Amino acid sequence: MAYSKTIACLLFTTLLLAPAIMATDPDPLQDFCVADLDDDDNKVRVNGYPCIPMSEAGDDFLFSSKLSKGGNTSTPNGSAVTRLDVTEFPGENTQGVSMNRVDFAPGGTNPPHVHPRATEIGLVMKGELLVGIIGSNESGNKLYSRVVRAGENFLIPRGLMHFQFNVGKTEAYMVVAFNSQNPGIVFVPLSLFGSNPPIPTPVLTRALRVDAEVVELLKSRFAGGSLQAS
Ligand SMILES: *[C@@H]1O[C@H](CO)[C@@H](O)[C@H](O)[C@H]1NC(C)=O
Ligand SMILES: *[C@@H]1O[C@H](CO)[C@@H](O)[C@H](O)[C@H]1NC(C)=O
Ligand SMILES: *[C@@H]1O[C@H](CO)[C@@H](O)[C@H](O)[C@H]1NC(C)=O
Repeated sequence: MAYSKTIACLLFTTLLLAPAIMATDPDPLQDFCVADLDDDDNKVRVNGYPCIPMSEAGDDFLFSSKLSKGGNTSTPNGSAVTRLDVTEFPGENTQGVSMNRVDFAPGGTNPPHVHPRATEIGLVMKGELLVGIIGSNESGNKLYSRVVRAGENFLIPRGLMHFQFNVGKTEAYMVVAFNSQNPGIVFVPLSLFGSNPPIPTPVLTRALRVDAEVVELLKSRFAGGSLQAS
């Protein structure tokens, strides 16, 4: 009897905890916790940033105009990300949301990448973007893609690899929102060929089924962990 009560109790506790375990960013415990980005005293952070005293926060911490302008798209990708995560908008700290703006030259791409900590919802503001989302192995690596035009939305489930490509004749841009103040980004080409230190070449020749010189060529393109090489 006592035994089955214990089991029931354990089950109940597990069920109660389940949503907390599956949530992304934790819920805030107060209205505001404006990030103290300068708190650089090597303290270990469990989640997010410490708060600055509200007496020092002023009245502007809930507003930002950083996405009103796009970045310079003359890059090897032909795209430029303007971030509005917690490091750019400290008022987001503990609120579980953030945004980015991405500008594209004609033919520019936001290379295949993953956000490890957030689902993304996007709105194309100008132009026409081919948006591709690749399902996990479970889906048979299915590519979901279509051309998304100004005023239309797309959704990227958390952790799935995706890309955008400007198929229009003009500059394009989009705004995306995340359910995390710090969604994180893993660029697939950079992770594979520009990691620091590099992934050993035999790992990549075996994984990618090509010769070492092909791997070395790709590594040279991303040397130094940057996407600067063309
Ligand atoms: C954009 O970047 C390119 C290459 O770095 C540079 O030549 C150009 O002047 C920049 N344009 C603007 C508007 O800053
Ligand atoms: C390459 O693309 C990524 C994503 O768009 C961007 O964050 C990065 O700044 C770009 N780098 C260059 C050099 O274009
Ligand atoms: C990936 O999916 C295929 C097809 O459903 C399956 O046979 C394979 O076992 C899966 N591999 C892994 C590592 O999950």
